[in-house]
Amino acid sequence: MTGQLAPWEPQGRALRDEWRGASAGPIEVHVHGGDVERLDAAHFFREPADFDDWEHSALQAARGDVLDLGAGAGCHALALQARGLRVRAYDVDSHAVSVMRARGVQDVQLGSLAEAPDACCDSLLLLMHGIGLAGDVEGLAWLAEDAARVLRPGGRWIVDGRGPPDEADCGVSRQHLEYDGSVGAPYDWLWPHADFVQHELARAGWRCAALDTPRDGRWLLVAER
Ligand SMILES: C[S@@+](CC[C@H](N)C(=O)[O-])C[C@H]1O[C@@H](n2cnc3c(N)ncnc32)[C@H](O)[C@@H]1O
Repeated sequence: MTGQLAPWEPQGRALRDEWRGASAGPIEVHVHGGDVERLDAAHFFREPADFDDWEHSALQAARGDVLDLGAGAGCHALALQARGLRVRAYDVDSHAVSVMRARGVQDVQLGSLAEAPDACCDSLLLLMHGIGLAGDVEGLAWLAEDAARVLRPGGRWIVDGRGPPDEADCGVSRQHLEYDGSVGAPYDWLWPHADFVQHELARAGWRCAALDTPRDGRWLLVAER
């Protein structure tokens, strides 16, 4: 153990090592009071041929200038670039940013939505349980406000998520990441059902539609204002 890092740095280190061909094992997602989920860093380098149907639906819904938030190793950004769309990818982790630049994502920014200029995109992508990044219900309201700020008039927010395993509308878990002995600081992760998100976003003036049939509690929405 080498001491606690920023929450996403263990995953960033795993992406860096995978890119170098020197992976040192899985990324572990430790849900406090729950299970440990193990993820292979190679998953973040998936090609369009490996995408699930819901990912194809999400990418098909993107148009105009795209902002990919929490872009990881850039798999979606690269697929959209290949389709001729202009993509700006944001990630809070510097290793992820370096990997995306090395892989050819043309516009990569270290940071989050708060750093993005007003009215800079027509589509905002937040994928791979993207809504989880909101952290909690208050965070969802902040995220929706920032999403509205960065989208141009007529723009769309394409976001996926997964509901909690119990009967609740919405859950929050505290979790941390670990990779090769490096441990990230804990962070909160939001697990809302699609209905809950639609209801919360409607209160802020968004209209939502399902882009895919929910499966295993997993959903994909497009939201417009
Ligand atoms: C679950 S991964 C998803 C990666 C990618 N979207 C994919 O589908 O492969 C979440 C990514 O979001 C980044 N991240 C976490 N919080 C963020 C934030 N507030 N703003 C921007 N990026 C963030 C992490 O560093 C990580 O690369």
